[in-house]
Amino acid sequence: TEYASPHELAELMGLTAKEIIQKCFSMGKFVTINQRLDRETIELIGLEFGFEAEFISEIEATTTEEQFDNEEDMQIRPPVVTIMGHVDHGKTSLLDYIRRSNVVAGESGGITQHIGAYEVEVERGRHITFLDTPGHEAFTAMRARGAQVTDIVILVVAADDSVMPQTIEAINHSKAAGVPIVVALNKIDKPEANVEKIKTQLSEAGVMVEDWGGECQCQEISAKKGLNIKELMDKVLTEAEIRELKGNFSREIPASGIIVESELDKGKGVVSTVLVQRGFLKVGDPFVAGNTMGKVRALMDERGKRIPEAGPSRPVRVLGFEDLPQSGDVLTVMESDRDARDLAQKRQIIKREHEFRRSTRVKLDSIARQI
Ligand code: GTP
Ligand code: MG
Repeated sequence: TEYASPHELAELMGLTAKEIIQKCFSMGKFVTINQRLDRETIELIGLEFGFEAEFISEIEATTTEEQFDNEEDMQIRPPVVTIMGHVDHGKTSLLDYIRRSNVVAGESGGITQHIGAYEVEVERGRHITFLDTPGHEAFTAMRARGAQVTDIVILVVAADDSVMPQTIEAINHSKAAGVPIVVALNKIDKPEANVEKIKTQLSEAGVMVEDWGGECQCQEISAKKGLNIKELMDKVLTEAEIRELKGNFSREIPASGIIVESELDKGKGVVSTVLVQRGFLKVGDPFVAGNTMGKVRALMDERGKRIPEAGPSRPVRVLGFEDLPQSGDVLTVMESDRDARDLAQKRQIIKREHEFRRSTRVKLDSIARQI
């Protein structure tokens, strides 16, 4: 298992990443700033700088890890998809079109408000969960916190433009995360669209499309006109099928999920969008999420309709948090309110200690500088 990077460790200890990397060098380890370090290295570095390493994630691990995943509980779940691409290449247009064409949308008026994640029924019984994260920040922020939520990336490239810096960035992020890419060549309704040119540029960027003998599925679309969107969704579903994405659908295990986004609503208090990853989150469940805790007071789907529970790959709006959690925090259902409170308090203490150490170090530094 891999843990924090030098960059994250430096933040925790109030040092610079350079100091950590130099310490690693002196211990005979050559590391880069964002490389994840193993447990032993972290413990050694901690000792060197006078800290004792505590692995908080292990407290979570007892209720979130694979130990609960009995083969008979594992079932195919909807893929979780993030749309990425350069500015103005058509990400929002594509999401909007998909949202409007949702099978269920016609029945209940569709989704109007902005939410960070929603599930779309592409055709009867075939669902895709879309993460609507602004830019790549949420994607990378979550990854930096160790939360891998995206199964498939739709890379939107405007065919009347070129492969651009953010296209490359998206490719690099996806590859680093080991997430497959489905290319959407957008704006093919435009006369200046040049599909072959984009495919060439993509291959130069390390993305070889299928009809060129590569691995990446690719679909020409027009997000604005709604052209070939169904075909694109089919390719996403095929990609998901190849990967046999499964989730634990047991109702007996403590559910867990990832915080996608949160906000403070004047009437409702903290409202958080949670992507359930394991088990079923139910009304009444006590939970911890990062440094905060709560008890599920209500669950709502993307249309604001109350639902009693939510299973794997299902995004839900959750009410009942004591405090705002952060995007990327893991939400874990606990045995009792008391367990939830104990764990949250423990984490808060650890966090306060980190902050205290950091601030004393900063103070000592500035005193040293004055002398
Ligand atoms: P940012 O959020 O700013 O990064 O942009 P975006 O990638 O979300 O692009 P957006 O969907 O806002 O589209 C940018 C512009 O391209 C808008 O004016 C859209 O109307 C236009 N556009 C998007 N898709 C198409 C398409 O398929 N054909 C044509 N002709 N125009 C499109
Ligand atoms: Mg946009």
